[in-house]
Amino acid sequence: MFRTRALSSLQLLRGALFPCARPGLVHAQCPCARPGLVHALGGPARRYRVEQRSYWQALRRRLLGPPEPPYRRPCLVGTPVLRAVPADQVRGPEVQRLVHALVAALRRADAVGLSAPQLGVALRVLVLEVPERVLEAENARVREARDMVAVPLRVIVNPRIRVVDPRPVLLPEACHSLPGIAACVARHRAVEVTGLDEQGQPLRWTVSGWTARILQHEVDHLDGRLFIDLMDSRTFQNLRWQEALERASW
Ligand code: CO
Repeated sequence: MFRTRALSSLQLLRGALFPCARPGLVHAQCPCARPGLVHALGGPARRYRVEQRSYWQALRRRLLGPPEPPYRRPCLVGTPVLRAVPADQVRGPEVQRLVHALVAALRRADAVGLSAPQLGVALRVLVLEVPERVLEAENARVREARDMVAVPLRVIVNPRIRVVDPRPVLLPEACHSLPGIAACVARHRAVEVTGLDEQGQPLRWTVSGWTARILQHEVDHLDGRLFIDLMDSRTFQNLRWQEALERASW
């Protein structure tokens, strides 16, 4: 009896100090603890689960609880919400809070587009912004080839895309939910989007070139689609391949 109690106390103490060291705890509490292919297959190896958080991260999580959407940063591929297909007709105060979080995360991540599912929220809302400094960071040849222009902040709720110019343009793309990789994706040259702005007013916007690409990429997120689903797989690349090669030769 005592032995059992002592063991339980020890286990409890160990659990309090090393929450990640308890099998299943990470997944039981993590926001991705929902039925999915990887989870159905038993999830990743236990060794991986134990190592994915440092002691301080685990303690912080124990004290503050799991992160709640909208997250501060884009969630990574594998998070189930990235494959969700949110329902239409978003209205109400939660949209204002979400828009605020999306704009903040967009600028924090130095991104040009971001969708609600990337912050863990299964709603059909996206933000898009191409600041001048993004254009200045590219050389003139790239800017011209990609047909890049500056775009002030746009918030689009319930976007619907209509193809205006279906000619395919094959160019490289990346995504903050898939850091460190890129691949070429064929996109329509020009599209028209309809939906609502952040005030709930109807909007209609026709875009082409790089802006049309960003828009198509973000609307894809709202349909649970990632650029890797559409990519030319032979162009798939790890953006750190040169760095890795150099490190391997030290
Ligand atoms: Co993306």
